[in-house]
Amino acid sequence: MSDELKRGLEGVLVAESDLSYVDGEVGKLVYRGYDIEDLAQGASYEEVLYLLWHGSLPTREELDAFAADLAAERAVDDDVLDTVRTLADAGERPMAALRTAVSMLSAYEPESDADPADLDATLRKGRRITAKIPTILAAFERARQGEDPVAPDPDLSHAANFLYMLTGTEPDDVSAETFDMALTLHADHGLNASTFTAMVIGSTMADVYSGVTGGIGALSGPLHGGANQDVMEVLQEVDASDKDPVQWVKDAREEGRRIPGFGHRVYKVKDPRAKILEGKLRDLAESSGDTKWLDYTTAIEEYLTEQGLLDKGIAPNVDFYSGSVYDSLGIPVDMYTPIFAMSRAGGWIAHVVEYQEDNRLIRPRGRYTGPEDSAFVPVDER
Ligand code: SDX
Repeated sequence: MSDELKRGLEGVLVAESDLSYVDGEVGKLVYRGYDIEDLAQGASYEEVLYLLWHGSLPTREELDAFAADLAAERAVDDDVLDTVRTLADAGERPMAALRTAVSMLSAYEPESDADPADLDATLRKGRRITAKIPTILAAFERARQGEDPVAPDPDLSHAANFLYMLTGTEPDDVSAETFDMALTLHADHGLNASTFTAMVIGSTMADVYSGVTGGIGALSGPLHGGANQDVMEVLQEVDASDKDPVQWVKDAREEGRRIPGFGHRVYKVKDPRAKILEGKLRDLAESSGDTKWLDYTTAIEEYLTEQGLLDKGIAPNVDFYSGSVYDSLGIPVDMYTPIFAMSRAGGWIAHVVEYQEDNRLIRPRGRYTGPEDSAFVPVDER
């Protein structure tokens, strides 16, 4: 048993998985062997979910059945929608509202699915959760706008249906395809903090609702999923300042501020997902003529690269470009991290089920550095 302290579990191997692999040295990501570039260009989010949950890319027949089963679970109980509205009216943050709403879903599951040891039931619950997250988030955002929820449309894809429920109008093909690609890019990523959180919870044989709500909590932090919102807030700060992006970043770094969207525990080169999102942002910007966020983001990336960050293994990650893509779809800034959760729920559920197939309670060691043999004195004699 090693006594070497590994803060943040950096580099510590704790599980084996067939789900995804991240090569941080060359900037590669695969889901069950398929390169993320191929999946982003050629697969729908439903296909990626099927791949993660069932181990292979579906045939057309399998995909149609899987997508129909997912679409059939999109509706959310009125009690949950009422709670979402209450939280929106109270000014709750979207990730906290999502966490609350997802934790309520277990009250509506069929008794036949109650056994946490039944992995088929866990996957059925995971399908329900994944199908309902877009409905919850769209209802939350519309409640904030003083609007009633829009009922899900079973004839639209997972991605298109979210944009439809958000705005009340069917998205154009480019928007739907762009959002679907973003969901594919965020679906899984090895043992990141939120996935590991879900696994720790699942390793106690707690129900998958607990695992997903734990994942939502972990993802909400600014060092993890919260960074995509922080990047957009930086771009907005640059835009509101009288400085060009490079001068703004120079001053921010002199103040000791870290630029969100840069750096990663695993990637030491540019995140392949950032490259794909940059390309998509370029397409969207060139077709709309509005290149502002693209210009700011690429100028900051070029400057930080010239400053040697890349030489130190600090490069753009997925969050550096995702917010600008979401902004072009008209999605509010504080919905970016919830959208990350909308996608990553698929990965959390896949890892919980995979780990529980050969479960072992996750319980690491800590080195005790506190006092020894403390003499107890009753409170009235202290
Ligand atoms: C995601 O794990 C995953 O797979 C996550 C994710 C997924 O799909 O699940 O990929 C999604 O969370 C992406 C990361 C989003 N977070 C950010 O963009 C926040 C900004 N980046 C960081 O704070 C940082 O890079 C972390 C938290 C992401 C990683 O931190 P580590 O591995 O603990 O590294 P560190 O904080 O010890 O930094 C190492 C060095 C330090 O330099 P030194 O002090 O050794 O000289 O890199 C520097 C840091 O100062 N550094 C940065 C920097 N991030 C790290 N310097 C300037 N700007 C930054 N943004």
